Amino acid sequence: MPLGTGRAPGKVILFGEHAVVYGRPALAVPVSQVWAEAHVEALSSTNELTIWAQDLGEKISLSDAPADHPLASAVRLTLGCLGIVNPPAWQVCVHSTIPIASGLGSGAAVSAAIVRAVASAASQELPLRTVSDLVYEVDRLHHGTPSGVDNTVVAYEQPVYFVRGQPPQPFTIGRPFLLAIADSGIASPTRIAVGDVRRRWTESPERYEAVFDRIAAVVEAAHRAIAVGEAAALGPLMDVNHQLLVELGVSCEELDRLAAAARDAGAGGAKLSGGGRGGNLIALVTDRTAAPVESALRQAGALNVIVTRVDHGLA
Ligand code: PMV
Repeated sequence: MPLGTGRAPGKVILFGEHAVVYGRPALAVPVSQVWAEAHVEALSSTNELTIWAQDLGEKISLSDAPADHPLASAVRLTLGCLGIVNPPAWQVCVHSTIPIASGLGSGAAVSAAIVRAVASAASQELPLRTVSDLVYEVDRLHHGTPSGVDNTVVAYEQPVYFVRGQPPQPFTIGRPFLLAIADSGIASPTRIAVGDVRRRWTESPERYEAVFDRIAAVVEAAHRAIAVGEAAALGPLMDVNHQLLVELGVSCEELDRLAAAARDAGAGGAKLSGGGRGGNLIALVTDRTAAPVESALRQAGALNVIVTRVDHGLA
């Protein structure tokens, strides 16, 4: 019997990535097909807290881990928040089915699972806001300047209209819709894409601010269309958002090829999702187009495709 357990879903950004770092809104939803899980076991062989990252085959001792180690930081920050000064003799076991560095929020979900498992081992339940804040602190170590959208969606497990620095607004989904999420197979750390956009913005702020404003207009239009259940309107908005991300320099040949393949196979629209330069592409599909779009995406090089229903709670 574990002392405590925690889980958190993956997420996709529907609209607004990158511009969200500069104060514009973004829409993001949880994805229930992929999860991070953590559980805490009591250790009798040692009195050290250790972390067992199953997927990486890595065992980490909390006292030896560097200050910026993401898993160790999630444990340290949670213990600190719970007021536990001396780390107990626990093993925190972590496992995730969310592909790493692919735009599905794996880092944030793993952190959220750890935060929840450690709190539950200490017989405490943290408010969602606190889980989100702790995950944000860990995300800062990977990203530098995360907007906060990832931690918010994985902690709240709800579709969120997100503006940096403002309380997250869960949004209404007038009618559920289907997305195909294709993994390009290219691992692309968000920090690098975000850093490149920052450099370009520093060189020509007016040009990039104008692109961010156009992305914000797409996000607002998508927000309205989703609320009134006009899913079909999202396709063209995805295409526009993808083109704006191309202008920001965060797409790549493979993502553009996947987007074209999805559209040719009948998707209503397609865009990269997350940091870009690799990671995921999302395409708007229906019950009729899901299968042909999925097979076209695989033929065009997608490593994996998930078809998910975007609904009120978990997608
Ligand atoms: O690559 P992901 O899924 O972590 O998403 C990054 C989203 C960005 O807008 C590019 C960065 C951020 O902090 O919001």
